[in-house]
Amino acid sequence: MALPGRVRIVEVGPRDGLQNEKTLVPTAAKIELIDRLSATGLQTIEATSFVSPRWVPQLADAAEVFTGIARKPGVSYPVLVPNLQGYERARAVGAAEVAVFTAASEAFNLKNTNAGIDESLQRFAPVLERAAADGVRVRGYVSTVLGCPYQGEVPLADVVRVAKALHAMGCYEISLGDTIGVGTPAKARAMLRAVAAEVPMPALAVHFHDTWGQALANLLACLEEGVAVVDAAVSGAGGCPYAKGATGNVATEDVAYMLHGMGIDTGVDLARLADTGRWLAALLGRETGSKAGKALASRG
Ligand code: HMG
Ligand code: MG
Repeated sequence: MALPGRVRIVEVGPRDGLQNEKTLVPTAAKIELIDRLSATGLQTIEATSFVSPRWVPQLADAAEVFTGIARKPGVSYPVLVPNLQGYERARAVGAAEVAVFTAASEAFNLKNTNAGIDESLQRFAPVLERAAADGVRVRGYVSTVLGCPYQGEVPLADVVRVAKALHAMGCYEISLGDTIGVGTPAKARAMLRAVAAEVPMPALAVHFHDTWGQALANLLACLEEGVAVVDAAVSGAGGCPYAKGATGNVATEDVAYMLHGMGIDTGVDLARLADTGRWLAALLGRETGSKAGKALASRG
């Protein structure tokens, strides 16, 4: 299979990155992060999460963040919603795209959303109905597609079933998440191939956490299978507070560097993105988690 000529990067740093930070990031800094990211050419920036503030206090200021950003024409700013209440909060501030999330592992989904997989799908039904009526696009996440911190192995059939269900409910894109970054390339390829037999490849995206340093390798295997939408977080931020052992996402800078080097267009200005990654790392009091970001800085 030929590699895609262009890849759309879904930047998840402001949501997946900041939801897992111990320290609370000020609202103004979250807004600045999103505005910096939209200036890099990224077309999709997941801005925040309208989940329960008791479950994820880091993103309790979702409404303030969403209303504070300078929404750039042509850029999509999806937000996470776990239920109708989250959808209504997101719509109240003008969100035009939302993302629902469930998992291939029952045990993880219970920890993350206090609901089993089928119960979570039932929660999404009214969200998708309302979204269709409102002209709102809905993305769907399937977590733990390559392993679960509580259940261990996750059967491929479970990943396929949940991805297929989200697509059938009306999600325009299904993001397949290796939540704890345990996957390796052959497994990632087999997983994507199995899902793509039931859900068209153009409706699929991949979401790799980099806990075991496999994310770029997994990504390449999936690009070779034909996926053309990739989730990533600037500076390699990220992790799910309800997934034991989850660390950062693959860094957006590293993804862009790899893709550009392979002649694949992303529309992203890598130097600007790397600046933003280092700015975020400084804000969080650490080094950037992007190797490309570090290399660019040391070159001056
Ligand atoms: P629950 O406690 O079962 O909810 O939580 P409930 O419906 O029983 O309601 C309890 C209280 O929460 C009520 O308030 C509700 O109003 C409130 P009270 O009456 O007690 O004062 N509530 C809400 N408040 C604000 N916004 C809402 C909302 N919903 C209920 N939307 C719930 C169930 C799903 C809400 C909770 O478990 C939750 O918010 N979980 C989110 C966990 C989360 O955000 N995890 C990280 C994102 S997923 C991820 O990172 C993986 C991903 O990156 C892909 C990958 O890597 O694999 C996407
Ligand atoms: Mg994630």
